Amino acid sequence: MSRAAKVVERIAVDELTKRQADKELARLSQEIARHDKLYHQQDAPEISDAAYDALRQRLKAIEARFPELVTLDSPSMRVAPAPSAGFAKVRHARPMLSLDNAFADDEVTGFLERVRRFLEREIALEADTEIALTCEPKIDGLSLSIRYENGELVRAATRGDGSEGEDVTANVRTLADVPKTLKGRAPAVLEVRGEVYMRRADFVALNERQAAAGEKTFANPRNGAAGSLRQLDATITAGRPLRFFAYAWGEAEPRAWDTQHEFLKRLTQWGFQVNPETKLCRTVDAVLALYRDIGARRASLPYDIDGVVYKVDRVDWQAILGFVSRSPRWAIAHKFPAEKAQTLLNGIAIQVGRTGAMTPVAELEPINVGGVLVARATLHNADEIERLDVRVGDTVTIQRAGDVIPQVLGVVMERRPRGTKPFHFPEKCPCDLKTAVVREEDGVVRRCSGGLECPYQQVERLRHFVSRQSFDIEGLGWTHIENFWRDGLLKQPVDLFRLRRDDLRKRVGWGDQSADKLIAAIDARRAIALDRFINALGIPSIGEATAKALAREYGDAQAWFEAMRAAGAERTAKPDATKKEKAVAEIGVEFGRLCNVQDIGVTTADKIVAFFGEGHNETIIRELLGEITIEPFRAAAVAADSPFSGKVMVFTGTLQAMSRDAAEAKAESLGAKVTGSVSKKTDFVVVGADAGSKAKKAAELGVRILSEEEWLAMAGG
Ligand code: IVH
Repeated sequence: MSRAAKVVERIAVDELTKRQADKELARLSQEIARHDKLYHQQDAPEISDAAYDALRQRLKAIEARFPELVTLDSPSMRVAPAPSAGFAKVRHARPMLSLDNAFADDEVTGFLERVRRFLEREIALEADTEIALTCEPKIDGLSLSIRYENGELVRAATRGDGSEGEDVTANVRTLADVPKTLKGRAPAVLEVRGEVYMRRADFVALNERQAAAGEKTFANPRNGAAGSLRQLDATITAGRPLRFFAYAWGEAEPRAWDTQHEFLKRLTQWGFQVNPETKLCRTVDAVLALYRDIGARRASLPYDIDGVVYKVDRVDWQAILGFVSRSPRWAIAHKFPAEKAQTLLNGIAIQVGRTGAMTPVAELEPINVGGVLVARATLHNADEIERLDVRVGDTVTIQRAGDVIPQVLGVVMERRPRGTKPFHFPEKCPCDLKTAVVREEDGVVRRCSGGLECPYQQVERLRHFVSRQSFDIEGLGWTHIENFWRDGLLKQPVDLFRLRRDDLRKRVGWGDQSADKLIAAIDARRAIALDRFINALGIPSIGEATAKALAREYGDAQAWFEAMRAAGAERTAKPDATKKEKAVAEIGVEFGRLCNVQDIGVTTADKIVAFFGEGHNETIIRELLGEITIEPFRAAAVAADSPFSGKVMVFTGTLQAMSRDAAEAKAESLGAKVTGSVSKKTDFVVVGADAGSKAKKAAELGVRILSEEEWLAMAGG
């Protein structure tokens, strides 16, 4: 670096000349890009997170002072780090194409006429020859290409720009709908293409879990699927309800099918899911009738579709028809109209969640969309507002799909009244403290920095604490919590156990009976199961299922606390490893054990140890322990005479007869202790399909291995 640059580096932002600022911005952009690459692509950061943040902050401060120097490729212009940052690039052996769209019936007729004319010209097709079409719902997800060599899954890649996608092999291996080995006879090379998607109900549940854990929620099932697939930590993907419908091929050698419908049949034989609504149609009338039939049932299908894809069934004709630019001449997507409406945006409210995550919500002039009155719609985050340039007073287009939260799609610019102002995301939390809002590293979520001091967060935490999955205090509704909080009766979780009968019975609307009832309900929870207690703490990313997995792994509260502190100390000593295998192998025994708990990866493990690293959380726990007792994790009704009674068990791989969760619950009901990692103490390891390192370790340690059939037989089916 030149001496001049070195000098500029040290000049305070306020004192930079424009020329110096320009130079310094170039240097910072380069540095940031270099560190992004080291961190995301090489997994080898050179500087601490804080030093990296400082670089970004300096860049932002300079840009704020000299807005005219902001370039389009500045790191600050990136909404989030380039989405593909952590994934290797994969070149598709055959490009992944897109489809032309048709909206009206005559566009479909037009498509078929073009196909016919082309074939008449090229192969002298006779005028009355039937052109059969395979008709498949157009799944609203994201497309994926999965490569098999000699029947084994070797690589999976996203579409990317069609020529080059991202390598998501590790993540795709966690999808139950994707066979790791093709059943039966398979081509030597086969690229299977299809759509990764999420069912609406799964999406709603995922968003609830995300919100409960203080994590960001997704706009729609498609975004949920994309966000879940593109996780650098495959254990996160594994915990997400992703599914896959297969519908096309890329490279296929040798190709032993002559029609699309025959290929779809093969797909099912190899072990894929093919959409059950698929039909072969021989006339345009049949095609349009199917389109209307599927359209009428669209809302009742469990997943989102946005049209029906028609494909010329014969593969030889497909080859003759070929492509126009990036779309095949032999296929078209007949799109459905979305359930949309336009209405006035009266305001933008900010909701603050339990961990301070702030969600902007559009307050709308109520309007009927597809039979449902919509008065609020999500705006997701500050970037979304900026992207859409939504302003209070605008007429906005909103969309509602199934039971998904309505969303704002865009602004009807022609109807923008004069004098509207761009929306500025508040820099202070709407709470009384007016604490600063911070933007998270991922650049999307903004949080109130007030932590435990922010009243909104306090109330949300208390709500979570007493909720059904946590302390489950009967008769303590959300409005009560807000009122008790306002009146100073309930500020911290421990206050709940210090409520006195007299505090309650004097309140408006309360009497002796209701006060006694609530006190009794609270007393009934002075002994609490470990998993409920863990869930109640509201650690970011820890929901009900993970809390249970933790409780199962550590057994009792004391053991868990100690293990978490030890894991935290190990992590502090080695803060750099971010990949799971590396973290488990290198950071330390306790941190590794934590990463191996079901649904937990390095990211979540970091959040848990960070929670314990904060002094006030220790205080909250200590105070609670003065009021309550935490019961060790207990398996449900135990059958004493089962072969698994008192045994330590591990389940690994994919089970066929029941889900892993169900199998583990069954083992527990038979008296077993189910853990996440194999050690000398393990008595049985049940090995499903595609079991990996745990099965290997069991074999090495001489632990008894059971196949799924053996386990079922011993467990009594
Ligand atoms: S066929 C050459 N079939 O739609 C044909 N695509 O607009 C390639 N899609 O990128 C695609 N369902 O993500 C095909 N049954 C289906 C589909 C489907 C959804 C998506 C896919 C593709 C996009 C094209």
